[in-house]
Amino acid sequence: MRFLIVNGPNLNLLGKRETSIYGDEGFDGFFIRLQDSFSDVDLEYYQSNVEGELVNKLQSAQVDGVLLNAAAYTHTSVALRDAVAAIETPVVEVHISNVLSREEFRHTSLIGGVCVGSISGFGLNSYRLGVTALVDYLNT
Ligand code: DQA
Repeated sequence: MRFLIVNGPNLNLLGKRETSIYGDEGFDGFFIRLQDSFSDVDLEYYQSNVEGELVNKLQSAQVDGVLLNAAAYTHTSVALRDAVAAIETPVVEVHISNVLSREEFRHTSLIGGVCVGSISGFGLNSYRLGVTALVDYLNT
Protein backbone atom coordinates (compact mmCIF):
# COMPACT_ATOMS: atom_id res chain seq x y z
CA MET A 1 0.00 0.00 0.00
CA ARG A 2 1.11 3.52 -0.75
CA PHE A 3 -0.03 6.47 1.36
CA LEU A 4 0.57 10.19 1.03
CA ILE A 5 0.84 12.47 4.07
CA VAL A 6 -0.15 16.04 3.21
CA ASN A 7 0.68 18.75 5.74
CA GLY A 8 -0.65 22.28 5.44
CA PRO A 9 0.57 25.72 6.50
CA ASN A 10 3.11 26.22 9.28
CA LEU A 11 3.61 22.49 9.79
CA ASN A 12 7.08 22.95 8.26
CA LEU A 13 7.87 24.63 11.60
CA LEU A 14 7.05 21.57 13.73
CA GLY A 15 9.58 21.20 16.52
CA LYS A 16 10.08 24.98 16.73
CA ARG A 17 6.52 26.29 16.57
CA GLU A 18 4.37 26.54 19.76
CA THR A 19 6.14 23.52 21.23
CA SER A 20 3.81 23.39 24.25
CA ILE A 21 1.02 22.49 21.80
CA TYR A 22 2.78 20.67 18.96
CA GLY A 23 5.83 19.18 20.72
CA ASP A 24 9.53 19.61 20.07
CA GLU A 25 10.05 17.00 17.37
CA GLY A 26 10.45 18.07 13.75
CA PHE A 27 8.42 16.20 11.12
CA ASP A 28 11.38 14.94 9.07
CA GLY A 29 12.81 12.82 11.90
CA PHE A 30 9.37 11.60 12.89
CA PHE A 31 8.61 10.65 9.28
CA ILE A 32 11.69 8.37 9.12
CA ARG A 33 10.61 6.60 12.32
CA LEU A 34 7.03 6.35 11.04
CA GLN A 35 8.15 4.77 7.77
CA ASP A 36 10.39 2.33 9.70
CA SER A 37 7.47 1.13 11.80
CA PHE A 38 5.27 0.27 8.79
CA SER A 39 7.24 -2.14 6.63
CA ASP A 40 4.21 -2.99 4.43
CA VAL A 41 3.26 0.63 3.73
CA ASP A 42 5.11 3.00 1.44
CA LEU A 43 4.83 6.55 2.74
CA GLU A 44 5.27 9.79 0.83
CA TYR A 45 5.30 13.21 2.51
CA TYR A 46 4.33 16.61 1.12
CA GLN A 47 4.06 19.96 2.89
CA SER A 48 3.00 23.34 1.55
CA ASN A 49 1.96 26.66 2.99
CA VAL A 50 0.00 27.42 -0.18
CA GLU A 51 -3.67 26.41 -0.46
CA GLY A 52 -3.66 25.87 -4.26
CA GLU A 53 -0.54 23.70 -4.09
CA LEU A 54 -2.29 21.48 -1.55
CA VAL A 55 -5.28 21.20 -3.91
CA ASN A 56 -2.94 20.30 -6.82
CA LYS A 57 -1.20 17.64 -4.73
CA LEU A 58 -4.49 16.03 -3.69
CA GLN A 59 -5.74 16.01 -7.29
CA SER A 60 -2.57 14.40 -8.64
CA ALA A 61 -1.97 11.87 -5.84
CA GLN A 62 -1.43 8.34 -7.20
CA VAL A 63 -1.76 6.52 -3.89
CA ASP A 64 -4.12 4.16 -2.04
CA GLY A 65 -4.85 6.63 0.75
CA VAL A 66 -4.09 10.12 2.07
CA LEU A 67 -3.50 11.45 5.58
CA LEU A 68 -4.36 15.14 5.51
CA ASN A 69 -3.44 17.65 8.18
CA ALA A 70 -4.75 20.79 6.50
CA ALA A 71 -3.69 22.81 9.59
CA ALA A 72 -5.38 26.25 9.63
CA TYR A 73 -7.02 25.55 6.24
CA THR A 74 -9.08 22.88 8.02
CA HIS A 75 -11.21 25.67 9.42
CA THR A 76 -11.43 27.88 6.33
CA SER A 77 -10.87 26.13 3.02
CA VAL A 78 -13.81 25.22 0.80
CA ALA A 79 -11.26 24.56 -1.96
CA LEU A 80 -9.54 21.83 0.06
CA ARG A 81 -12.85 20.31 1.09
CA ASP A 82 -13.93 20.20 -2.57
CA ALA A 83 -10.60 18.63 -3.56
CA VAL A 84 -11.04 15.86 -0.98
CA ALA A 85 -14.63 15.31 -2.15
CA ALA A 86 -13.51 15.24 -5.80
CA ILE A 87 -10.94 12.46 -5.53
CA GLU A 88 -11.70 8.75 -5.19
CA THR A 89 -8.80 8.17 -2.80
CA PRO A 90 -9.85 7.77 0.85
CA VAL A 91 -8.60 10.62 3.05
CA VAL A 92 -8.16 10.58 6.84
CA GLU A 93 -8.13 13.96 8.61
CA VAL A 94 -5.29 14.24 11.12
CA HIS A 95 -4.52 16.82 13.81
CA ILE A 96 -1.65 16.84 16.26
CA SER A 97 -3.51 18.83 18.90
CA ASN A 98 -7.02 18.17 20.16
CA VAL A 99 -8.73 20.87 18.13
CA LEU A 100 -11.99 20.47 20.09
CA SER A 101 -10.27 21.47 23.32
CA ARG A 102 -8.86 24.68 21.80
CA GLU A 103 -10.30 27.98 20.56
CA GLU A 104 -13.84 27.86 19.21
CA PHE A 105 -12.79 28.69 15.65
CA ARG A 106 -10.88 25.39 15.60
CA HIS A 107 -14.02 23.41 16.45
CA THR A 108 -15.27 23.61 12.87
CA SER A 109 -13.66 21.43 10.24
CA LEU A 110 -14.68 21.97 6.63
CA ILE A 111 -12.62 18.90 5.77
CA GLY A 112 -13.84 16.25 8.20
CA GLY A 113 -17.23 15.65 6.59
CA VAL A 114 -15.70 14.45 3.32
CA CYS A 115 -13.02 12.29 4.95
CA VAL A 116 -13.43 8.64 5.95
CA GLY A 117 -12.60 9.65 9.55
CA SER A 118 -10.69 12.05 11.77
CA ILE A 119 -7.92 11.63 14.36
CA SER A 120 -7.04 14.50 16.65
CA GLY A 121 -5.13 15.11 19.85
CA PHE A 122 -2.48 12.39 20.05
CA GLY A 123 0.52 14.50 19.13
CA LEU A 124 2.56 13.23 16.19
CA ASN A 125 1.19 9.80 17.08
CA SER A 126 -2.04 10.95 15.38
CA TYR A 127 -0.29 10.21 12.05
CA ARG A 128 0.64 6.69 13.24
CA LEU A 129 -2.98 6.07 14.24
CA GLY A 130 -4.05 7.47 10.87
CA VAL A 131 -1.85 5.02 8.95
CA THR A 132 -3.26 2.12 10.99
CA ALA A 133 -6.81 3.37 10.40
CA LEU A 134 -6.25 3.64 6.64
CA VAL A 135 -4.76 0.14 6.45
CA ASP A 136 -7.79 -1.24 8.34
CA TYR A 137 -10.19 0.79 6.19
CA LEU A 138 -8.69 -0.52 2.95
CA ASN A 139 -8.56 -4.12 4.21
CA THR A 140 -12.24 -4.29 5.19
C1 DQA B 1 -3.52 21.57 13.62
C2 DQA B 1 -4.65 22.31 14.33
C3 DQA B 1 -5.03 23.55 13.56
O1 DQA B 1 -6.09 24.23 14.23
C4 DQA B 1 -3.85 24.50 13.46
O2 DQA B 1 -4.18 25.63 12.68
C5 DQA B 1 -2.63 23.83 12.96
C6 DQA B 1 -2.32 22.46 13.37
C7 DQA B 1 -3.05 20.36 14.42
O3 DQA B 1 -2.40 19.49 13.82
O4 DQA B 1 -3.26 20.27 15.64
O5 DQA B 1 -1.81 24.46 12.28
O6 DQA B 1 -4.02 21.08 12.38
